[in-house]
Amino acid sequence: MKAVLGALFLLLAALGSAQAEDPVRIGVLLPFSGPFADFGRQIGNGMALYLKQHGDVAAGRRIELIRKDSGGAKPDLAKRLAEELITRDKVDMIAGFGLTPEALAVAPIATEARMPMVIMNAATSVITRKSPYFVRFSFTLSQIVSPLGEWAATHGIRRVYVVVADYAPGYEAEAAFTKAFTAGGGEVIGSVRVPLNGLDFSAYVQRIKDVRPQGVFLFVPSGEQPIAFMKAFVDLGLGAAGVTLLGGTEIIDETVIDTLGDKALGVISAQNYSAAHQSTENKKYLADWTAAFGAHPQPNFMSVAGYDGMHAIVEVIDALHGRMDPDKAMAAFKSIRFLSPRGPIEIDPATRDIVESVYIRRVERGDGELVNREIFEFPKVRDTGQAE
Ligand code: PHB
Repeated sequence: MKAVLGALFLLLAALGSAQAEDPVRIGVLLPFSGPFADFGRQIGNGMALYLKQHGDVAAGRRIELIRKDSGGAKPDLAKRLAEELITRDKVDMIAGFGLTPEALAVAPIATEARMPMVIMNAATSVITRKSPYFVRFSFTLSQIVSPLGEWAATHGIRRVYVVVADYAPGYEAEAAFTKAFTAGGGEVIGSVRVPLNGLDFSAYVQRIKDVRPQGVFLFVPSGEQPIAFMKAFVDLGLGAAGVTLLGGTEIIDETVIDTLGDKALGVISAQNYSAAHQSTENKKYLADWTAAFGAHPQPNFMSVAGYDGMHAIVEVIDALHGRMDPDKAMAAFKSIRFLSPRGPIEIDPATRDIVESVYIRRVERGDGELVNREIFEFPKVRDTGQAE
């Protein structure tokens, strides 16, 4: 009997230490190449920075990140890579998701495989309703754009032309902005949906110029498109004519400002993070980011979603004492709440979406550099798209 107990004890000890030595595996599915490679760089660096600051061990288990390049808005590839991460790499969670079509494509897999998925950008409101295993640390288009519509209507901008990318986040941005802006007394005098991969906006901008709006609301995904649009906007004289460019979320994030220079001055946008956010947490974030990756490109809203998402993953592993279980992990995600470099954040347990401040910002020159200066804060904003 004693011998049997001894053997059992040894077996349990061996199993315990095997688990302790076995890393928690996190699949990271992001565009690291192609037109949206910036998403992968910003989010990937944000995740890496959190682990660099805090160590890559939680509850005694090492955290291993397994990166897969989704290459951009390629839903079929995202699906195949998610399946590979689950069946071959045996991951405990998948994080990332730059674009809405990627997240929507993997939703059925998340549900079927009971695989927690941590969304670090994809921002169409409906995503978190597509699987109970999704939790989001970025924002939704409605969450960001509704406050912008409300703010614009009450700050002297009455006639606006709306330009959005021709895919789900664009339609949501168009609807949410229009609703909030018109509720505040503004008028949308025209709108157009532009292809997701086009870079020549001069014909659209000429058409907009002809109808003389006071403002142009723009949502196209961060990266090459906002830069191309803004160049046309300035070159065709809309900026000089006093037309205000209103950014639906990311048209003017830090990577875009770096490229545009003075053409970006005066652009108004709404977003959950500015590198110019004044707080102790953000000062440290910027200093550590600069030490790890250099001063440029500065961290943008995507980097902070990667950083906070990684922070939350570590807290969830700790809460589970390293014994990973999908349903317990989702329950732990629902009570996440902490102070981020962007301000206070928490997960709404009913929707698994983030509650956070939304800031109205204006591009100004500060200390020689162009910055998104925060000029107004809407605190504790929830996703409003879910209610519609
Ligand atoms: C999205 O596809 O959901 C998306 C992409 C880029 C953004 C925002 C949302 O900047």
